[in-house]
Amino acid sequence: MSTRRRVSTRISAISESATLAVDAKAKAMKAAGRPVIGFGAGEPDFPTPDYIVEAAVAAAREPRFHKYTPAGGLPELKQAIAAKTRRDSGYEADASRVLVTNGGKQAVYEAFATLLDPGDEVLVVAPYWTTYPEAIKLAGGVQVDVVTDETTGYLASVEQLEAARTDRTKVLLFVSPSNPTGAVYSREQTVEIGRWAAEHGLWVVTDEIYEHLTYGGAEFASIATAVPELGDQVVILNGVAKTYAMTGWRVGWLIGPSDVVKAATNLQSHATSNVSNVSQMAALAAVSGDLSAVARMREAFDRRRQTMVRMLNEIPGVLCPEPKGAFYAYPAVKELIGKELRGRRPGSSAELAELILEEAEVAVVPGEAFGTPGYFRLSYALGDDDLVEGVSRLAKLLAEAH
Ligand SMILES: Cc1ncc(COP(=O)(O)O)c(C=O)c1O
Repeated sequence: MSTRRRVSTRISAISESATLAVDAKAKAMKAAGRPVIGFGAGEPDFPTPDYIVEAAVAAAREPRFHKYTPAGGLPELKQAIAAKTRRDSGYEADASRVLVTNGGKQAVYEAFATLLDPGDEVLVVAPYWTTYPEAIKLAGGVQVDVVTDETTGYLASVEQLEAARTDRTKVLLFVSPSNPTGAVYSREQTVEIGRWAAEHGLWVVTDEIYEHLTYGGAEFASIATAVPELGDQVVILNGVAKTYAMTGWRVGWLIGPSDVVKAATNLQSHATSNVSNVSQMAALAAVSGDLSAVARMREAFDRRRQTMVRMLNEIPGVLCPEPKGAFYAYPAVKELIGKELRGRRPGSSAELAELILEEAEVAVVPGEAFGTPGYFRLSYALGDDDLVEGVSRLAKLLAEAH
């Protein structure tokens, strides 16, 4: 019998997406008739705006879109992404520096695959989004965590970054607004961090997918524009998923220097070829239209954000700094770990989340998924009534902890 592994070492090291796992368990319970309220999903609860859907319908009827198109994206979409980037973040890049990808996720994967050699280190601020570690690992890179907590609103300082830097550090991953914490760096903080990266010759990969979702006076500042000193060592990741409620359409992009974009396009040409033309035409309508749809969503998210944070902070043992962007709250629940609850004594946030799902029929994602045990991530991209009902159930159950 062969002693070879059935699944390669490299691929078997990939973990299941913990956020999708929670979502799947909650959906299975729901399908079995249990009234589960899910705070796990990372997507807007709104449908894609009609004018975007109409553009897709028209594209589906056009024979030229039934064929292969350039692997790096439709030229008209690349142009529109370049123009949208100029409009929204003041960053100048022509269409040749844009690569259209299958969602922001493929842009993340391709950015690290293109930049990293084995052993290259990437500074990643924890709590971090679950996909980054896997993309870095698959590229042979080494993730170096810079751990933040609720006391700084999950913002990393230059001092912390500097303490984690070594002579193998190649990339700083910068994510603002952040998933999972909702933290948003101010322009001053962004400039300070960007200048530090430039001073040390680091590349910056900046994930700007939540650029339009900021609240309470917080403002998104693109590090690529705010810090011209970074020169061409910046790769911007973005997509239509969160801004236009288009998670299912799978369109994202990366913008970088020509050599990086060319290399990443070669990779994509063998892996997936062009993104579905119908989705690309939908994305074209999205990025060339105005931002009124996202303004309406932002208003609803802001209202829910305030309700959720207030209700969470009223629960003894729960501490939730105010998230300033995206659509997630990230409360600390450390004080509740080890306490007795319904005859059990959960020893971690993962165990506590499981107990909550079983006893209160509420799904939250434990901090283990984001590199920081002792926390929960709750999405507030769900209806107002469900949100209040879900957090009330959580409060009622957790009040029993002793
Ligand atoms: C921070 C961040 N970046 C990128 C993405 C990728 O989104 P998509 O692949 O749906 O475009 C997500 C989705 O959850 C995200 O939260």
